Amino acid sequence: MAILVTGGAGYIGSHTVVELQQAGHEVVILDNLSNADERVLQRLQAITGKAATFYRADIRDRKALSEVFEKEKIESVIHFAGLKAVGESVEKPWEYYDNNITGTLTLVDEMRRHGVKNIIFSSSSTVYGEPDAVPVTEESPKKACTNPYGWTKSMLEQILSDMQAADHEWNVVLLRYFNPIGAHRSGTIGENPNGIPNNLMPYITQVAVGKLKELNVFGDDYPTKDGTGVRDYIHVVDLAKGHVKALAKLTPGSGLNIYNLGTGTGYSVLEIVKNFEEASGVKIPYVIRPRRAGDIACNYASAEKAKRELGWVAENGIREMCEDSWRWQKNNPNGYAD
Ligand code: NAD
Ligand code: UD1
Repeated sequence: MAILVTGGAGYIGSHTVVELQQAGHEVVILDNLSNADERVLQRLQAITGKAATFYRADIRDRKALSEVFEKEKIESVIHFAGLKAVGESVEKPWEYYDNNITGTLTLVDEMRRHGVKNIIFSSSSTVYGEPDAVPVTEESPKKACTNPYGWTKSMLEQILSDMQAADHEWNVVLLRYFNPIGAHRSGTIGENPNGIPNNLMPYITQVAVGKLKELNVFGDDYPTKDGTGVRDYIHVVDLAKGHVKALAKLTPGSGLNIYNLGTGTGYSVLEIVKNFEEASGVKIPYVIRPRRAGDIACNYASAEKAKRELGWVAENGIREMCEDSWRWQKNNPNGYAD
């Protein structure tokens, strides 16, 4: 039996493929390569010594999905495939709802048609909106999202929960990721954003290799320790391991389970800059800019539930996250094109 990893050529998906294979799972990757490079597949094989079966296909393509479920013996699906750029989602809401929602509806329909009713879904801390209190627990209220990308996550959580409530053969795990950064320690796979990065760490690493001039720090007047935004950064390899642990939750009758995947510690933008400088030995020039629309002051997780029920804790600290992000970027200034 195999695990189908949609979006398995992407940033979090590729790191999860490594951990799955190293834990002894058979892996089938399905990805349309809209935000990934096929060359990641050789890098994965070099790390694990195992080839994953790869299908270049779109989750909205019912026929392609059906073929995969007919050819492969899939027991569970880890569903990463989706568009994730917040700003772009504001410009192109239809494309985001179509890709993420139509895509997931098509995927789960083909899953049930083929009798596969185990799914782990990539959700996001964005579903908590601006939290009333930190750390946020899984019981903290879901709030209005500030952009269509966030709404796709919030709506898909609801859709999968409703499907599970109507048909108890479904086992669903919703994983709410906080802010994944870092890369595999080999320095051979990592985050490879198209164009100018939206997220903090890839922006910093591109400043460090000289591709970008300086970091824009969005706001220094938040009610936080130094005025800059605070987030719960989590090493992508820890996040990937969380999926392997969550697979054990997909047992008959386990129903719907929701977990935060974070470290429980918040770092400000300036703390990240300082830690990165120490880890890399490279100075990161920055300028303070106005707040970015839709940003919140502070968010970090309570990761207690995942610890208690999955036996999972994030093992890497901020130093490892910065060192590993840097190793990947330094060795691959142009991503997989090098
Ligand atoms: P990514 O863009 O690197 O990976 C997503 C992958 O899905 C890409 O390889 C892309 O080619 C593929 N894909 C997109 N649409 C597809 C489609 N219609 N059919 C088939 N493949 C498709 O992003 P990531 O950072 O690895 O994120 C993985 C998942 O985790 C996403 O669902 C994302 O929304 C979610 N998530 C990410 C973060 C983060 O900070 N990176 C935080 C919270 C949640
Ligand atoms: C954003 C998304 C979230 C998504 C996540 C990962 C919003 C509201 N949330 O989270 O849905 O899951 O990305 O894709 O957009 N910062 C700078 N300069 C930069 C970039 C970021 O100062 O060039 C600051 C931000 O203001 C924030 C922190 O760094 O305080 C982290 O930003 P980012 O990496 O974009 O993640 P989030 O905004 O937390």
